[in-house]
This record gives sequence, structure tokens and C-alpha cells, in this order.
Amino acid sequence: MKRVAILISGGGSNMVALVRDMTGDHPCRPVLVLSNRPDAGGLAKAAALGVPTAVVDHRPFGPNRAGFEAELARHLDAAGADLIAHAGFMRILTPGFVRRYQGRMLNIHPSLLPKYPGLHTHRRALEAGDAEAGCTVHEVTADLDAGPILGQARVPVLPGDTEETLAARVLVQEHRLYPAVMRRFALGNRERLDL
Ligand code: GRF
Repeated sequence: MKRVAILISGGGSNMVALVRDMTGDHPCRPVLVLSNRPDAGGLAKAAALGVPTAVVDHRPFGPNRAGFEAELARHLDAAGADLIAHAGFMRILTPGFVRRYQGRMLNIHPSLLPKYPGLHTHRRALEAGDAEAGCTVHEVTADLDAGPILGQARVPVLPGDTEETLAARVLVQEHRLYPAVMRRFALGNRERLDL
């Protein structure tokens, strides 16, 4: 059974989708939901689902990224995390931290990478007039939003779409894609999944 820690910064809807999927014959179980924001809405959702939570507020560390990450690692290692799922986690990690967990760390990004790494992905897709958008699950490497792609899900961009309507359509697919990729990844299957 693989022990999964999930990193969040906000509402945690992807965390909820992952936790709800990790039951029965699933090869994983959630062991920790860790947030860099004490006010992250996902913390209460995790607690309601019976998953232990922790907060490492990045603000007191200021520019001391290594100090912040050492505290993250302390929680992750105390929980015995085998796999780490970034789910709406909005801190950029140093290469040193990534190296420590490389090969065991996933992220979901709300665009069809390699298009639109970084922020405001839906706005950029709309501004570009793209006919489709979507989300990507990839391995976390030192290069932001650029690790090996493990899965993608696509949605149409519809006339009259706003950032909000497109984000909502993509989020539905995120909640399908991430659990499906996590199951395969936990079993050592790194073949790309396209939903
Ligand atoms: C989602 O679009 C996710 O892809 C991005 O943050 C948004 C909110 O995620 N990283 P969640 O609801 O906090 O999982």
C-alpha cells in the first residue's frame, strides 16, 4: 500500500477527488494533507474526510526557501509518504527539494502542457483563440511545469467562454484525470494516459 501526501494551497478540490478515489482495491491511501496556507479551504475538507492535516506557513520563512522546505520534508517524512501529489499547491520548490523526492512527486496543471506553463492558463488559451484546452498530470522536476507528462484530458473552448467557465470545464476533467493517473503511477505504470 503506497502512502500518499497531498500538498495544497487553496480549496483542494483535486485533493478531495484523490482522497475519495483511494479506497477499496486502490494501491494507495492518503496519509497527510499539507498546506502552506493556514486558511486553505482544503484543510477542513481533508479533516472531514478523516485525513491528517498539517500547515507549514511559508510566510515566516521569508526568502528562506530551504528552511520552509526542510519543514515540509519533516512533515512528509514523519508521515512516511511514498508519493507526493501537488494539488493546487502554489509554491515553487528548489531543485534540492525536488531531487529529494524526484520520481515520487506529481502535479496537476490546468493546461495542455507544454502549452501555457505557469499562471493564468485559461486566460492565455482564450486570448490565443485556442479551440481546445485541458489539464496535464506530470512528474515534478526542477523545471516548473515541465516534467514527464503522465496524462492529459482535453475540453473544447466554447463561444462566449470566460476564464471562469473554461476553468470550471477543465476542473471537471482534472478530477477524472488525477485519480486515474495516480492509480497507474502507484503501480509503476508511467505510460501516458489521454482521457
Ligand atoms: C486547479 O485548476 C488546479 O489545476 C490548479 O489550481 C486549481 C484549483 O485546484 N493547480 P484545487 O481546487 O485547489 O485542487
